[in-house]
Amino acid sequence: MNKTLREAIIAGNWKMNKTRPEAKSLIEELKPMVANANCGVVICVPFTNLETALQLTQGSNIKVGAENCHFEKSGAFTGEISADMLAEMGVEYVVIGHSERRQYFGETDETVNKRTRAAIEAGLKVILCVGEMLEDRENNITEELISMQTKIALKGVTRDELKNVIIAYEPVWAIGTGKTATADQAAEVCGFIRETIAKIYDQEAANGMTIQYGGSMNAKNAAELLSKEDVDGGLIGGASLKAPDFTAIVNAANEG
Ligand code: 13P
Repeated sequence: MNKTLREAIIAGNWKMNKTRPEAKSLIEELKPMVANANCGVVICVPFTNLETALQLTQGSNIKVGAENCHFEKSGAFTGEISADMLAEMGVEYVVIGHSERRQYFGETDETVNKRTRAAIEAGLKVILCVGEMLEDRENNITEELISMQTKIALKGVTRDELKNVIIAYEPVWAIGTGKTATADQAAEVCGFIRETIAKIYDQEAANGMTIQYGGSMNAKNAAELLSKEDVDGGLIGGASLKAPDFTAIVNAANEG
């Protein structure tokens, strides 16, 4: 089983939630609950919570990530945050290409590629999101779309740099809708992403790559999703905002 070759990672994506006091109490509650996890635990938080998260997680097993970064190193980009700014703070991960950024903020495969490369260059680990819309699935072009998103996002990323990339498969129709992909659907596309990585790089690189599922993953459905060979973890939205729910998913990954 190749699953043992890769680290299972459960990452929370808080999206635009939690003020600083709210973030503080969530992290303080979560810390002891996930202290014995034998999978990676990451919380990706709004920029305004990064400092708080970094301070509170010091000495714990919880890693901290941001939810986006700009691709330029610095300059006249009002409202943007560079990868270097995140790395300097001690941030370890960054989510790139989330479907909400693609849908609402004009993110394209090309800008996802630029951000991915900038983040890697700054020494960050990238959680790269790919996923089809319901319409794509109905038109039977899920694989074409996922293949295109993956290939363009990784353009110019070397095999060596790939160890700093995690891919999150997030079908857009399953995000925040309560409509989870079935474990078989998730496994099928995660497996397809792995085949795509093998084609771009090689089988060994593909076998070592952590591929997460995201989209309405919760305490109830996590165990089945995470038991699948090609599903190496989860990117969790809503359920990451409550410590007991997020912990239940971490515990499911421990067993998966
Ligand atoms: P939900 O878990 O709220 O569906 O969100 C998934 C997601 O978009 C994580 O990035």
